[in-house]
Amino acid sequence: MSPPILEIDGLHLGYATRTGTAAALRDVHLSVDAGESVGIVGESGCGKSTLLKAVMGVMPPNAAIEKGAIRFQDIDLVTADPVVWRRARWSGIAMIAQSALNALNPVMRVSAQIAEAILAHENWPRDKVRARIRELFEMVGVDSSRIDDFPHQFSGGMRQRVLIAMALALRPPVLLADEPTTALDVIVQDQIFRRLNQLQEELGFAMLLVTHDLGLVIENCERIVVMYGGMIVEAGPTAQVIAAPAHPYTLGLYNALPRLGAAVEPISIPGRPPDLERPPAGCRFADRCPFAQARCRTDPPMRDIAPGHWARCHRTDEMEALRPAALDPDTWERAADTATTTDPDIIKRI
Ligand SMILES: Nc1ncnc2c1ncn2[C@@H]1O[C@H](COP(=O)(O)OP(=O)(O)OP(=O)(O)O)[C@@H](O)[C@H]1O
Ligand code: SF4
Ligand SMILES: [Mg+2]
Repeated sequence: MSPPILEIDGLHLGYATRTGTAAALRDVHLSVDAGESVGIVGESGCGKSTLLKAVMGVMPPNAAIEKGAIRFQDIDLVTADPVVWRRARWSGIAMIAQSALNALNPVMRVSAQIAEAILAHENWPRDKVRARIRELFEMVGVDSSRIDDFPHQFSGGMRQRVLIAMALALRPPVLLADEPTTALDVIVQDQIFRRLNQLQEELGFAMLLVTHDLGLVIENCERIVVMYGGMIVEAGPTAQVIAAPAHPYTLGLYNALPRLGAAVEPISIPGRPPDLERPPAGCRFADRCPFAQARCRTDPPMRDIAPGHWARCHRTDEMEALRPAALDPDTWERAADTATTTDPDIIKRI
């Protein structure tokens, strides 16, 4: 078996704030094989973009990797000379950023922006660069006569395609996509994903897709990673995780998914994610978890569920019995009620 193209090993990242450090990533382990699609889901603020930025090496100045490794083609980018990381950027690992509008310079022609990315790595003559940009436009389904337009001349969906073209300009083996279609309507979103999937088959890149939308991961990714409060709480083959979630937070996310023709309303998880500057002791989900027990105030272990499927919870062994209760909205309401208790010990719930 060939080694993974990307391997994140025990990554800890903190943001320095005025009042301390926000523990934005804690003990993140993730390995990605060549050509595979991995979806990363979780609520706002759980660290999805932070993780992608760390892999891309474009963290804000107040971020620091405290521990761990990010191995790309067997080189640890964290300890390597920054030049190595810079070289890997775009040609090895490329990223479609969260906001298409902010990612493009409004006063520069799109061709000039893509040329800049290409010329940072390749010493190509002008004609060859322009031919490549035309080819990229056709590849993502935008008419190549438009390469010299400005960003505002494109619709939202087109702009997103331009960003995909830019990311694929140097044929990177790893593509990071941070909410690539969030601002777009579902039809355009669907078209873009169809094109991305075709491109992935043709070019063979691995994709890390960050999204709030569990449905998108179910449709597009072989593997799913669920994040909560800066940690991966469950990871595994998508079909298996969806059929038998092994972490209560995944159960909650799945309940929140609207289903076509379903008789029941989606249930949202009451409460808010933890304060990353002062996270609770033990399981970070404990304050909202309907199945929390006193032992959940200690760090839950990473437990293997099946090959390639693991979850970080004390009660993975009992999940079969707990799943039916998770489908009942009252279960989650009760958890919200007991979470407001002043008792320092968590009340045994279910
Ligand atoms: N530059 C920063 N300085 C301090 N804290 C930050 C910074 N950037 C992000 N954070 C904090 O780190 C945590 C993770 O943020 P991140 O943007 O990675 O979340 P996310 O999962 O991508 O959320 P969203 O779904 O809203 O995009 C949040 O609590 C956020 O407030
Ligand atoms: S059962 Fe305990 S360890 Fe598992 S998610 Fe709930 S609070 Fe965390
Ligand atoms: Mg984000």
